[in-house]
Amino acid sequence: MPRRMIETSITEEDIKIEGSLRPQVLDDYIGQSKVKENLKIYIQAAKQRGDALDHVLFYGPPGLGKTTIASIIANEMGVHIKVTSGPAIEKPGEMAAILNNLEEGDLLFVDEIHRLNRQVEEVLYPAMEDYCIDIMIGKGSSARSVRLDLPKFTLVGATTRAGLLTAPLRDRFGMLYHMEFYTVEELQQIIMHSSKVLEVEVEPRGAMEMARRSRGTPRLANRILKRVRDFAQVKYDGIITEDVAKTALDLMDVDKLGLDHIDRNILLTMIEKFEGGPVGLDTLAAAIGEDAGTIEDVYEPYLIKNGFLNRTPRGRVVTHLAYQHLGFDSPK
Ligand SMILES: Nc1ncnc2c1ncn2[C@@H]1O[C@H](COP(=O)(O)OP(=O)(O)OP(=O)(O)O)[C@@H](O)[C@H]1O
Ligand SMILES: [Mg+2]
Repeated sequence: MPRRMIETSITEEDIKIEGSLRPQVLDDYIGQSKVKENLKIYIQAAKQRGDALDHVLFYGPPGLGKTTIASIIANEMGVHIKVTSGPAIEKPGEMAAILNNLEEGDLLFVDEIHRLNRQVEEVLYPAMEDYCIDIMIGKGSSARSVRLDLPKFTLVGATTRAGLLTAPLRDRFGMLYHMEFYTVEELQQIIMHSSKVLEVEVEPRGAMEMARRSRGTPRLANRILKRVRDFAQVKYDGIITEDVAKTALDLMDVDKLGLDHIDRNILLTMIEKFEGGPVGLDTLAAAIGEDAGTIEDVYEPYLIKNGFLNRTPRGRVVTHLAYQHLGFDSPK
């Protein structure tokens, strides 16, 4: 079980269901309409020319569909996909071998691409730009560099931390797409679709309730569906109605805007101990007994994104919405 029900990075539990829930074609990929419209055109154009698709980078928070869309692109292009990740490739030679084994048009997906080490990354520069690699042959004074041609391929990179990407790497992508959080309606559609695959009966209002609490994240929507399904099966007659969804999620401590006890504790502490702020990150961290980095990277983004919290030069402040949501009168 994840430490938090609402964790958005992948957990053991997700791995089992994600395979079957992943859409296979662009038309089944819900939301991210700007990305989809663009990709459709580029994919069609590349296919008409009989060319490889330009390199693509997807960036954005965990669980929003970066890996999914990479495999959809391969599907739509009708090419093989080779999957690897930044931390998995330690030596330049390993990257060179992967590239050298690709076939014309193939897609190489590099997850967590910001974690490639510098030497490995440098292999990618000529590969992406000119479809070639330089390899060293021999040792010592007889060593020489040989240029090896590669098939035309497409590099698809994914990262949750675009800021950590080096400029030379970023500049070599022809397309850069920021993945957006999903709307409640989009998540509802995803849940309805997943419910068919998982063969669980969900009423539209039940799906809506789960969608509202899914923090804009398909992965979480699917996990919530699976948990609520189990709950409905054991406690009710298996059908997920609005009431069943509400009761189950309340029990799991995910409130109606997707906050859990840790989120609420952060807001509550700021209101009760610091009069709503501004309060410095370290002071806040000490008050709730959490690590400052974790607050900043894990908890805060969703709170800021949804208007519960603001960052100011003098520290964090809670908003009127936070007062309201926790049942306090807003201060003047
Ligand atoms: N647009 C979508 N439509 C339908 N389902 C989706 C969509 N995007 C994601 N999903 C579902 O959410 C799950 C998680 O998506 P995915 O693994 O692609 O996220 P990710 O962005 O790669 O996450 P991470 O950053 O952790 O690697 C998928 O298995 C899929 O079931
Ligand atoms: Mg992924």
